[in-house]
This record gives sequence, structure tokens and C-alpha cells, in this order.
Amino acid sequence: MSKILITGKIKGEALNKLSSHEVVMWELDRGMSASEIIEQGRGAQAIITLLSDRWTAEVMDEFPNLKIIANYAVGYDNIDLKEATKRQIAVTNTPSLEVNVAVSEFTMGLILAIAKRISEGEKYAKEGLYKGWKPDLFIGNNLQGKTLGIIGLGRIGKMVAKLANTFGMRILYFDENPSNDAPEAEYTNLDDLLSFSDFVSLHIPLLESTKNLINKDKINMMKKGAFLINTARGGIVDEESLVEALESGKLAGVALDVHEKEPQLNHRLMQMDNVILTPHIASATHEVREKMTEQSVEAILSVLGGRLPDNLVNRAVVL
Ligand code: GLV
Ligand code: GLV
Repeated sequence: MSKILITGKIKGEALNKLSSHEVVMWELDRGMSASEIIEQGRGAQAIITLLSDRWTAEVMDEFPNLKIIANYAVGYDNIDLKEATKRQIAVTNTPSLEVNVAVSEFTMGLILAIAKRISEGEKYAKEGLYKGWKPDLFIGNNLQGKTLGIIGLGRIGKMVAKLANTFGMRILYFDENPSNDAPEAEYTNLDDLLSFSDFVSLHIPLLESTKNLINKDKINMMKKGAFLINTARGGIVDEESLVEALESGKLAGVALDVHEKEPQLNHRLMQMDNVILTPHIASATHEVREKMTEQSVEAILSVLGGRLPDNLVNRAVVL
């Protein structure tokens, strides 16, 4: 019997497979602080952790028996991988077909919503402001024939390319990995992608090298009147530069599911009509959450059983 800490309320049939272990699940609505994680998790051999929990060397030092951190997310920028590997703690994540579908569909949802001003129109209608049909009410854009620039053509980026292609969009992409390509998308360097795209969508992880990648200089390269969509990680975009670009009219609109200082949102962006902000929900579908629970539980059972788990992120760990 091992002790397993789950740092948030998660659901899924797969949790039953942990019944022979001591499972501590954090049931409160708010996230755990580092000291709560240390206290509640004392002696744990396995953890299922949320993307909002930070795993630093200091926190790991409090877990001498820890064998695995199963990150309940695809992105694992919340975990110091080098430190985990040094301590021979396996780190796993939750990529799947289901999450690729969810996030790419959500991305199309944001592209559609920002292009067609759906959120603005809805707010207006629900506030009782609709007094009669007018030809100039909430004029938006067609997607057909427009160019979508995808930064990061991994599993999710590829699916976005496929979906956007069915809307008749031309797709450009930039990716560091030359073997990532898709039949629907044409490779360009980053600067060209920014200058030719009507919509730019981010599908890269947050790394030292991608932190604030979309800064003032890069935004200046974008087409006047372009739209930016981010369902990846907030830290990739410099929000202050976005505010300026929206105020000057350089960008026509922005749709962000992820934010630089989550759960805090940028107050100036919150006040802008041509900005859609959602609370990091691109992967939030029944199908995905069920799958993520299954993947996390299986990863823990593998590691506790001395087997290599699927979706091991730090391959230098020896089991
Ligand atoms: C969600 O943001 C994830 O990385 O799965
Ligand atoms: C719009 O509702 C139209 O009929 O053109």
C-alpha cells in the first residue's frame, strides 16, 4: 500500500483502481498552497498534480519517498523537470487524441467567436440593448480565404490545421521541429508567418525559449487588423504589449484561454470589447477529463509496480 496525494477534485472510473492504496484527495474548491501540499502529502510515493501546482526543488525535497508526479495536464511547465530527474522522480503528462480534439475544436470556437463577434453580440442581446435589426450591427469577418498562422505544429496544431482547412482558410505554420508538417499547412519562418496571417494561433509549450515569444517586436510584425488566439500557455504572450496593440488598432481582436498570471486576468484586457477571455477551459470536456484520470492512474500504477509508464516526460529516470 502506497500513499497517493491528488491535489484537486478529479473524477473518473479509473480512480477505483487505486482502492488498495491510501488516497488523499483535496476536495476544496480552491487550489492547494505549497505548504498544504507538503502537509497533506507527507510520505506520499505518488502524486496526481494540477497544472496550477508548482513543483520546485524545495517542494520535492519534502517528498523523499516520491516516485512519480503525474501531471494532470499536457503542458508540464509547472514542474522543474531537471530537479525531478535528479531525484529519480518520474514525471508524466496526459496527451491524447481526446485532448487534441478538445483543444483544436475550442481553438476554432475562439477563432469563430472573435471573427464573428459572438461574445460581444451575446452580451448586447442579454443586456437588452437589441432594439432593431441594423445592417451595421456587429460587423465581423468571414474565415473563408483568410490566412491562419499556426505557431507550433504538434499534435494539437496539426488538428487545428485540419479543421481550419475545412473552413477554407489558408494555413501557414512555423515549427522548430522540421519533421512536423501537415498536408494542409505551408511552412514559413516565424516573421513571415506573423506578417502574412490574418489569424495567429499558438500551440507551443511554455519553455525558457518561448517565454514572451509574442512580444512587442513580434506583434509589430503582425498584419494590421489581425487576430491573436492563445490556447497554449499565458506566459508565451506579453500581455502589456497586447494591450498597446489593441489600443492602437494594430490588432483587431484577441482571444485568450490562458493568461500570464493565472488565475489573475489582465484588467485592461478585461475592459476591452474586442477581447475574449476564457478561464483555461480548452481541454475541459467530459471525454478529456475521463481520459486524463485514466492516464494519471495508469501511470502511477505502472511506476509503483516498477514498470515504465506511458507518457513519461523525463526519460532519464530509471525504474
Ligand atoms: C491544459 O492546459 C493542459 O496542458 O492539459
Ligand atoms: C439576415 O438575417 C438576412 O436575412 O440577410
